Amino acid sequence: MESAEEYLFEYNGCYFVKNLTTAEYLDTLNDFKIRDSDVFLVTYPKSGTVWTQNILSLIYHEGHRNGSEEADLLDRVPWLEYKFRDIDYVNRTSPRLFSTHLPYYLMPEGLRNGRTKVIYVARNPKDVFVSYYHFTKINIHIKDAQDFEIAMERFLAGKMPANLWIDHIEGWSAHRDDFNIIFLTYEEMKKDLKSCVLKICNFLGKSLAEKEVDKVVDMASFNKMKEDPRANYETMAPDVLDNNKGHFLRKGTIGDWKNILTVAQSERFDSIFKERLEKLPFKFCWDIKDEL
Ligand code: A3P
Repeated sequence: MESAEEYLFEYNGCYFVKNLTTAEYLDTLNDFKIRDSDVFLVTYPKSGTVWTQNILSLIYHEGHRNGSEEADLLDRVPWLEYKFRDIDYVNRTSPRLFSTHLPYYLMPEGLRNGRTKVIYVARNPKDVFVSYYHFTKINIHIKDAQDFEIAMERFLAGKMPANLWIDHIEGWSAHRDDFNIIFLTYEEMKKDLKSCVLKICNFLGKSLAEKEVDKVVDMASFNKMKEDPRANYETMAPDVLDNNKGHFLRKGTIGDWKNILTVAQSERFDSIFKERLEKLPFKFCWDIKDEL
């Protein structure tokens, strides 16, 4: 097993996965030319990125909704900092949709134009960690600790791609006035997806007919996505994800951490995050049965 440091590299204070991007490429992002019509989906890993990528693709592409187009999410809403596909971002037609795990301070400078839309999706950190722990089993490049306790301590020390969960979300939240941004949580999407789809449409200025919205909601359900090769990430190159070892769309619920973390481990999370969490302007939900 490699240590966290061996599969990660640090660039301007942030960890990235070796083999998947380079410092030279990241250097180019500061000057990456932003268009007003671009849309950026920002998340910390395992917080609902693929889910929201799918929602964006379904909102913007009728051919995705009616099944006439085969493009998958890696083409539709490609990663800014990880170029999994050979896509010409510069000459891509508008509106360009991008996904990223970048902290606010590494985003292209032009994004602070106050017009380009940014959607940030956050998820409670206990479910994020449990999801991430399983993800490390299928991701060939993230050779993280097999030992649960060690993996947890790395997560709580921010030794993972995109660093510490609370730093990421706090950074974006504190700098919200620099961007044209909305914040959503995985938990509110899970509780009431239709309201969240409408909120996203409203933010994007996209007015879909009621039945189109219903189609987006239906096709963004966990079970439909799991079956949809355009949306389940099983089209990711086999040298990145090993689908024989598990699925990207794993459980898709709130509170799975309760099945895995001991009381002491859960309290350890609280001791690291609770105080700072209470200062954030978001309400997290820790169990599928809890009210938001
Ligand atoms: P679990 O591992 O808890 O199941 P990301 O895309 O940011 O990497 O996040 C992945 C997590 O989002 C996984 O969580 C995955 O199952 C969940 N997810 C993806 N699509 C979903 C959907 N339609 N509904 C609920 N959860 C979804």
